[in-house]
Amino acid sequence: MINYTEKIPNNVDLGRDRVLQRALEHWQPAYLSWWYDMGPTESNAYEVYLRTAISVEPDGWAQFDYVRMPEYRWGIFLQPRDEKRQVNFGVHKGQPAWQEVPGEYRSILRRIIVTQGDTEPASVEQQRMLGMSCPSLYDLRNIFQVNVEEGRHLWAMVYLLHRYFGRDGREEAEALLARRSGDTDNPRILGAFNEPTPDWLAFYMFTFFTDRDGKFQLCALAESGFDPLSRTCRFMLTEEAHHMFVGETGVGRIIQRTCEVMKEHKVDDPAGVRALGVIDLQTIQRYLNFHYSVTLDLYGSDVSSNAANYFTTGLKGRFRETKLEDDHVLHDASYPVYEVAGNKIIAKQVPALTALNERLRDDYIGEIEDGVARWQRVIDTAGIPFRLTLPHKGFHRAIGNFAGHYISPEGEVLTEEAWKNHEAEWLPTPQDYAYVQSLMSDCVVEPGKFANWIAPPIRGINNQPLNFQYVRFN
Ligand SMILES: [Fe+2]
Ligand SMILES: [Fe+2]
Repeated sequence: MINYTEKIPNNVDLGRDRVLQRALEHWQPAYLSWWYDMGPTESNAYEVYLRTAISVEPDGWAQFDYVRMPEYRWGIFLQPRDEKRQVNFGVHKGQPAWQEVPGEYRSILRRIIVTQGDTEPASVEQQRMLGMSCPSLYDLRNIFQVNVEEGRHLWAMVYLLHRYFGRDGREEAEALLARRSGDTDNPRILGAFNEPTPDWLAFYMFTFFTDRDGKFQLCALAESGFDPLSRTCRFMLTEEAHHMFVGETGVGRIIQRTCEVMKEHKVDDPAGVRALGVIDLQTIQRYLNFHYSVTLDLYGSDVSSNAANYFTTGLKGRFRETKLEDDHVLHDASYPVYEVAGNKIIAKQVPALTALNERLRDDYIGEIEDGVARWQRVIDTAGIPFRLTLPHKGFHRAIGNFAGHYISPEGEVLTEEAWKNHEAEWLPTPQDYAYVQSLMSDCVVEPGKFANWIAPPIRGINNQPLNFQYVRFN
C-alpha cells in the first residue's frame, strides 16, 4: 500500500531518508505554484470525481472520490522490486539490475529521465484552457484526470532526479518547473510538446497519438537495467492506459456523431456537414495527419548512434524486450529504414542497433493502425463511404531521413511547390481551427448533457451513470 500519512504519499519509505525527504518537501511548494500557474484554468475550487492511486497492486490500485485538484495526493509510487531482476540486454546482459546509477552512465541516464519528465508538465500546460469549453461533465472530469496524472508522472521523474543525481538532479527538477510549452525563450524539450492543443478534437488526437508515444517510451524505459527507472515506468504505464482510452474514444465519439448527423440529413459535403454543427470527416482526417506526423518525430532520427548507445549500455530497451526472441545484443542484426533517393523512397538495411528509434516507431505505428481501424468501423457501420487513412510515415516530418523532403500522404516525393499546393487538403488550416473552435465556445455542464458535435460514451466512469455529477463547481 501507499503511505498517505506523510506529506508526500509514497511507497519508497521516504521517511527513512531525511535528506531526500527534505529536498522533495522543498520542491513540493514550487510544484504547487507551477500547478496554480499552469494547471487547468479556473479549476482550483472544483471538486472532481478523480481516481487516486492507493496501491501498486494490479487489482484495486485506484480509489475514486471527489478531490479539489490542488489537494490531489501526488506522490511517489514504484512497482515492487523483483530481487532476481537482471539487465536483460546490451553488453551488461545477465548482470543483476542496477540499484544505483552506474557512474559512467550518469549523464546519459539523467538526460533520458529529464527528457521523459519534461513531457509530463508540458501536456498539462498545452491543455490548460480546454476546461473552459468542455463538451460534458464526463469529458471535463477525464481531462482533469489526465492532467493530475501527468502531474504525478512529473513527480515520478523528479523523485529519480532527487534520489539518484544529487545536486545536478535537484537543478534539473527545478528546470522542469521553469520551462513552458510553446515559450520562445524557455520551451519544452521536444517539438510536439510545444504545439498548442487549441480544441477538444486536438486534445483527443493528442491523447491518442502523443500519449501513446509516451506509452512506448515508458515501455522501453521499463526494460531499463537501472531498476528504479524500470519500476517507476511500470507504474506510470497503469495510469497511461486511461489517457489513450480518453483519446481513442473521444475521436471515436466525434466520428460517430458526425456519421449520425450525415445519415439523418443525407449530407456528405463538408460545408453541408458543418452547417449541421458537427465536424466533417475531412477535417478529422487533417487533424489525424497533423498529430500523427508530429508524434512520429518524437521517436528521433531513423539512424541514431544515441539510440544504439542507450541500448548497448542497458539503459533503454526495445518494446517488450524480454518477450523478444533474439540475442538481445544485436551485434549482427540489421533493420530496414527508409530514405529519399532522387524522387523515390527506398528501403535500406542498416545495423539494427542504430535503427532502434525506427523500430520503436514501427511498433508504435502498428498500434496506431489498429486504433484507426476501430475508428473506421464506426464510419463503416454507419454505411458512409469515407476512408480514414494514416499518411505515409515520411509525410510532414521534421526529424530524421524525411526532414527537408516534401512527401505526400500517399508517399510520393514532391517538389516544395507541389506539396504546398496541397497543404490545405492535408493539414488543418486556420479556417479548420476556427470552425472547430466555434463549436466549442462554451462549456456543457448539465449532468448527462453532451455537446452536439460528440456522441455520449457507452458507459460512465467507475460504473457511474452518464448523468453523474462528475465535477462539482463551487
Ligand atoms: Fe505521462
Ligand atoms: Fe499520459
